[in-house]
Amino acid sequence: MSVPTLPRLDAAHVLSALSSLRQSQPVKYAAFYSSQLGGVVTDPALMVLPFDDHMVHRGHGIFDTAGLVDGRIYDLEAHLDRFERSAAHSRLTLPLSREAMRDIIVGTVAASGTRNGAIRYWLSSGPGSLELSPAPGAAPGFFVMVFPGLSYPERWYTDGLRVMTTTYPIKPALYAVTKSTNYLPNVLMQMEAKAAGVDNGVFIDAQGHVGESSNMNVAFVTTDGVLRHPKFDHILQGCTSLRMLELARQLVADGRLAGVEVCDIPVAQARAAREMLLIGSSVKVAPIVAWDGQPIGDGRPGPVAGALLALLEADMRTGDRHIDVPFA
Ligand SMILES: Cc1ncc(COP(=O)(O)O)c(C=O)c1O
Repeated sequence: MSVPTLPRLDAAHVLSALSSLRQSQPVKYAAFYSSQLGGVVTDPALMVLPFDDHMVHRGHGIFDTAGLVDGRIYDLEAHLDRFERSAAHSRLTLPLSREAMRDIIVGTVAASGTRNGAIRYWLSSGPGSLELSPAPGAAPGFFVMVFPGLSYPERWYTDGLRVMTTTYPIKPALYAVTKSTNYLPNVLMQMEAKAAGVDNGVFIDAQGHVGESSNMNVAFVTTDGVLRHPKFDHILQGCTSLRMLELARQLVADGRLAGVEVCDIPVAQARAAREMLLIGSSVKVAPIVAWDGQPIGDGRPGPVAGALLALLEADMRTGDRHIDVPFA
């Protein structure tokens, strides 16, 4: 057996290797704040974490993502509410007050110069050991990334998406309602769907009720015009869904919907829907036109999906749920 002599790298070599890595696979992350570094970096080569951070090797971390629209952060308070809940479910201590986290998020966006995109932020249990429990005295880490956001094909909105029921089991409720860095089922579901030639998957729970998609919620418009959304006790409480359910009241008022309900949705009832919707911060609202090869409704994007998308987009641009970023 010939044992290779591995190079021993000094700091200069490591920095240059991190740069080469980014050159061979360019990314568009505009700014990264790290409490471990104590500030913001804009060079993606420097957007790093210590390998022994428990978020890296044990998945003991949480995150959330808010949208950035025309230089304003949309609905950050709803995302911070969920972040605080996820921290509590994960026995993670927030190292900063909510106000301090908000200020750092706004400051990172200002440093990024980015006016449209997404802001993702994480809380990790910190470095200091390779044990299962966090190292004694480990300092929790807070990180913020500003990036262009996830983008989806235009045909999702014009022609609609196709989804499949995933073969992967839905997460147990506690883990599903927590936005932790354990996204293995979500990743596998999306990969499975792509391999099958469709756009995404849908989790079904053990009782045969509809759950959610990979990183988005789903909802339905029944044949009698009721907007039905699965209960949030076994899926992630989407900030977009919550807002959409409020905005949908306008469609009830003008007669385009007969009602809005959050309830258990048996799969058979869901398949008979007139419309099926995919909902999330990045996708907003997109129509699903086929599920497991069967058309939803007439197999074309329906009017409620379009109306809710318009309401949400207006809310993102002109509503009262914004933080103005003080760009230099
Ligand atoms: C599993 C899961 N469900 C639903 C959502 C939709 O949530 P939001 O509307 O806050 O983006 C997300 C995205 O955060 C998610 O990861």
